[in-house]
Amino acid sequence: MTVNHAPGGVGEDIRLDRVLSIELARVTERAAVAAARLRGRGDEMAADQAAVNAMRAELNNLSIDGTVVIGEGERDEAPMLYIGEKVGTGRGPKVDIALDPLEGTTICAKNLPNSIAVIALASEGALLYAPDVYMEKIAIGPGYPKNLIDIDAPPGENIQALANAKMVPISEVTACILDRPRHAKLIEEVRATGCAIRLIGDGDVAGVIHTTEPAETGIDIYLGSGGAPEGVLAAAALRCTGGQMQGRLVLDTREKIERAAKMGITDPRRIYSHEDMAKGDVLFAATGVTDGNMLQGVKFGRRRIVTHTIVMRSSSKTVRWIRAAHNDPEKFDLEM
Ligand code: FBP
Repeated sequence: MTVNHAPGGVGEDIRLDRVLSIELARVTERAAVAAARLRGRGDEMAADQAAVNAMRAELNNLSIDGTVVIGEGERDEAPMLYIGEKVGTGRGPKVDIALDPLEGTTICAKNLPNSIAVIALASEGALLYAPDVYMEKIAIGPGYPKNLIDIDAPPGENIQALANAKMVPISEVTACILDRPRHAKLIEEVRATGCAIRLIGDGDVAGVIHTTEPAETGIDIYLGSGGAPEGVLAAAALRCTGGQMQGRLVLDTREKIERAAKMGITDPRRIYSHEDMAKGDVLFAATGVTDGNMLQGVKFGRRRIVTHTIVMRSSSKTVRWIRAAHNDPEKFDLEM
């Protein structure tokens, strides 16, 4: 395996520094701990801001010349790590970064399952510069024939194809869908197939990733529209774990089409595979903020904090689960 410490270009051959993948864990751990201190307080903005500040501080310790290409900005207007923001020490490879310091702000504010701090890193130009619009998404986990799913096919066909490939009846397939009024027809169609649905309140990065471990999460397929930035983050994760995803931006107004065009998107109806959304060597990390199906949330002890993180890399397909115990700086001086 080539380890390339030199600045990367838009190249699929570029290998990012292996150490970086481990360093990324610190970035999501710190954001997750900051957000978790505000879990269940009903204050989405405060939790998001805390996560942003913590993630920015840790990112700026990394030896990278990084640019945020997927941030939270346009839709939320949350205090953010904005698109175009430079991060890192400036000495190191030129990388593009997709991040969501607190994915599932509402989940965190309500202390419900599956909010995470998440980041993906790739060579400059390797991540889709997606505008903050919705994206139609379909995703399944690894181990299935290529092109098994088709975003343009009716949901029933995709679910039947998946059931056939899994060699189970449709009644043993579970789809994950965001619980939104815009999905009423989709939910009706999926229910008509006999497939079970896990309706989630928020957090479709986790929703997509959950398809990669169906035995653990109980989710086989993700369907429906969610944020496009979240789509790119999920695609980066699937590049590392295997699995298949297709996404199409929902550019349903002239203003959105023009905004996308400014970001280099000339075909508003284009279907993107996960490989189109995250090219080359991709690093991905996510830390649980609240308890979830794959990642436990942050645990605060008397003096120690425990975090659970998944760190992955596309070129090696290594998936690391990191359970880390940290001193709690806020209780550092307390007696045991
Ligand atoms: P935030 O972390 O920005 O709150 O996003 C949560 C989320 O549920 C995403 O996971 C999802 O992609 C998006 O919001 C869906 O948007 P909407 O809530 O408008 O349906």
